[in-house]
Amino acid sequence: MPVTETATARPGRRAELTFKHNANHGRHGWLRLTPAYSVKLVNDILSDRAGHLRVLDPFSGTGTTALSAAMRGHRASAVDVNPFLVWLARAKTAIYDPETLRAAARRARHVSDLASSGGPTSQPPPIYDVNRWWHSDNLDYLCRTKGAIDKLEPEPGPVRDLLLVAFCRALIALSNAAFNHQSMSFKTGRASAQTRMFERRARYGSFEDSAAVVLEGAAANPAARASVHLGDARNLGESLSEGFDLLITSPPYPNRMSYIRELRPYMFWLGYLKHGRDAGELDWRSIGGTWGIATSRLATWSRSPETFFPGYLETALAHIRDSDTKSGTVLANYVAKYFDDTWQHLTSMSKLARPDAEVHYIVGNSKFYETLVPTELVYRDMLLRCGAKRTEIRTIRKRNSKRELYEYDVVAWL
Ligand SMILES: C[S@@+](CC[C@H](N)C(=O)[O-])C[C@H]1O[C@@H](n2cnc3c(N)ncnc32)[C@H](O)[C@@H]1O
Repeated sequence: MPVTETATARPGRRAELTFKHNANHGRHGWLRLTPAYSVKLVNDILSDRAGHLRVLDPFSGTGTTALSAAMRGHRASAVDVNPFLVWLARAKTAIYDPETLRAAARRARHVSDLASSGGPTSQPPPIYDVNRWWHSDNLDYLCRTKGAIDKLEPEPGPVRDLLLVAFCRALIALSNAAFNHQSMSFKTGRASAQTRMFERRARYGSFEDSAAVVLEGAAANPAARASVHLGDARNLGESLSEGFDLLITSPPYPNRMSYIRELRPYMFWLGYLKHGRDAGELDWRSIGGTWGIATSRLATWSRSPETFFPGYLETALAHIRDSDTKSGTVLANYVAKYFDDTWQHLTSMSKLARPDAEVHYIVGNSKFYETLVPTELVYRDMLLRCGAKRTEIRTIRKRNSKRELYEYDVVAWL
């Protein structure tokens, strides 16, 4: 039986991070946080735009939108609060010349040779209960692969970036974690001798296979560079000096989903997290974050008096608070903080909008106890309050088997 790590109710947990083995890697082997339908939607929005627009994604994740925009010759900017995702999005949207790609392919072969001939090893990542994530022989292989990358390509640069992206693919392929719909679980139990043999084969091919897929993707990269910034969507003026004509983004939803939680294996291996508590701190800075310390801080959080909340949101918050004496207040604060942050983002975003700018927010509603939180209506009403001339709510799809949970494209013209 798999061991379930979290069994907390996560109303309307979205599908993006249902990492299962390699399912989280797009066609070119880049890690992806959004499902295929969302990537298609972004491409549809971009496909009928002529000219060279300034396109912004203020919650860029792995940079899928910036990549699509740059591929079409637009001037793309992206912002994310997570430094690992900023690194990955930069690697994903960079321009690689043929010589760099050939050098990376040669290095990948050397890394593989060195790792399988017992070369230097790196320390295992300081993630809690590391053997739950990787069986010891897989962990040993990954330590030797990472050790070989650090020895053969120690300096930051495009070749090291490409090797590390390939390493990210390999480390998730070899992990015991399955990110299922409602929870994350670990495969347990002893594998049969035959399974272990197959696993071994897959393992010794895995870094080189990953590198081949990543390099194929990198060769197809855009001719125009996208700029990816480490920053906070609640204060975009700090990261961006230019305005935008078109904004397309998929912000976090108010559904208690933690991106950091899902990204921990990569972030610990690559040194973006050093202690468990770092994950909680970063989640507290992330909108909608709910991991570790982020949840306990909600108990005493209070919102800023300037924030605009429509009346129906106040009613929904009161219902959530009254639904449960034990966790009603924390959950109501969680939802209130999500929209307080959203308001800060929208006010800072509207200051950067160029005349007639168009914005698309791909968002989902949620349910806490019996109370529906109509995220799409709140976005629409906040956008109107920020000066939008016109808005439209387009229903994209029903989210899962739960009634009333949908995803929407909230469109506004500023
Ligand atoms: C749904 S994901 C975006 C997925 C993205 N469209 C992709 O294809 O990878 C939401 C992103 O918002 C980021 N985020 C959360 N809070 C933020 C903040 N305050 N400022 C900027 N980014 C933030 C998270 O780190 C996460 O990457």
